[in-house]
Amino acid sequence: MSLARIERLQRALAASGFDAMALTPGSSLTYLTGLHFHLMERPTLLLISTGAQPALILAELEVGKARGAGLPLQLFPFGDNPALWGQPFEQSAQALGLQGKRIGVEAAKMRFLELRYLENAAPGARFEAADDALGSLRMQKDAEEVAAMRQAVQIAQNALLATLPSIHPGVTEREVASELYLQLLKAGSETEAPFMPIVASGPNSANPHAVPTERKLQPGDLLVIDWGARYAGYCSDLTRTFAIGKVDEELRRIAEITARANAAGRAASQPEIAAGEVDQAARAVIDAAGYGAQFFHRTGHGLGLEEHEPPYIFGENKLILAPGMTYTVEPGIYLEGKGGVRIEDNVVITASGRETLSDLPRELITLA
Ligand code: CO
Repeated sequence: MSLARIERLQRALAASGFDAMALTPGSSLTYLTGLHFHLMERPTLLLISTGAQPALILAELEVGKARGAGLPLQLFPFGDNPALWGQPFEQSAQALGLQGKRIGVEAAKMRFLELRYLENAAPGARFEAADDALGSLRMQKDAEEVAAMRQAVQIAQNALLATLPSIHPGVTEREVASELYLQLLKAGSETEAPFMPIVASGPNSANPHAVPTERKLQPGDLLVIDWGARYAGYCSDLTRTFAIGKVDEELRRIAEITARANAAGRAASQPEIAAGEVDQAARAVIDAAGYGAQFFHRTGHGLGLEEHEPPYIFGENKLILAPGMTYTVEPGIYLEGKGGVRIEDNVVITASGRETLSDLPRELITLA
């Protein structure tokens, strides 16, 4: 499977005029090889050229792990003396003939450490962003990837259900967040959860990127919980909004509008339309209700090995949706000083429409 992915990348690179691509540890390297490496003080670099076996430059102690990948990789290991770390770069650049070539990198990921070694090893090479070549492969998930995401959603949902009984007035946002994180691990999330849960109550819920505080939940609060799990490397990312006791009329109304916007965004999702149309469908509901200015972020983002990846769901995005694309639909309405609502689901585009992977209730549920 991974070999097929490497071959697809080689074809995509050739089609966009690249001779090779250089990847540091991260989700793309994992996607292509099934191997997990952490970014550390030592360099690690995967080199994929269009005409040779891929090369992996890595610390000696990682060689066993790399062999376990079962891929035809040329390994270029190095020891503990940094003075000798340039050698494997020179050997691999020779083996792949990278001198003077056009080499793609991930613009937001390539690191100075690896890039400097490679520049020195491949005189005359030009480095350019090749995010599109790789992104187009990663965007369309295969059945195995969707199954992992389905499981990540299930784990997240179970963890939230296990957390709800501990939520009541007097409990702090931080206490709810730590209980939820514990329940994510107990429910089967990998320890590297995609992000720390957002638990935002009362006026804090009007901030989409709130960090849990010592604020105690009070009757009359809205409570926004945005959380996710990771399974087999794949993320889920969900949000639900609750009422603590009785909340006022306007807060109930924005919860109802947001649920309709969420449904509209999901219903619009289908192959062959532009990603921007999903945003427009969700936004139209909120605009029509008079809260357009209080929905000030995009409707969603792609989801996979990373919690934010293409396709991005914003109004101007002309990218055409295709089966296997996975993303969030997460409209919100935020009333400063008062409270906010966000309802987030994870969808996958299918041949005939879309499937929503998450199924927790979306209406405002009162916890007390
Ligand atoms: Co999200």
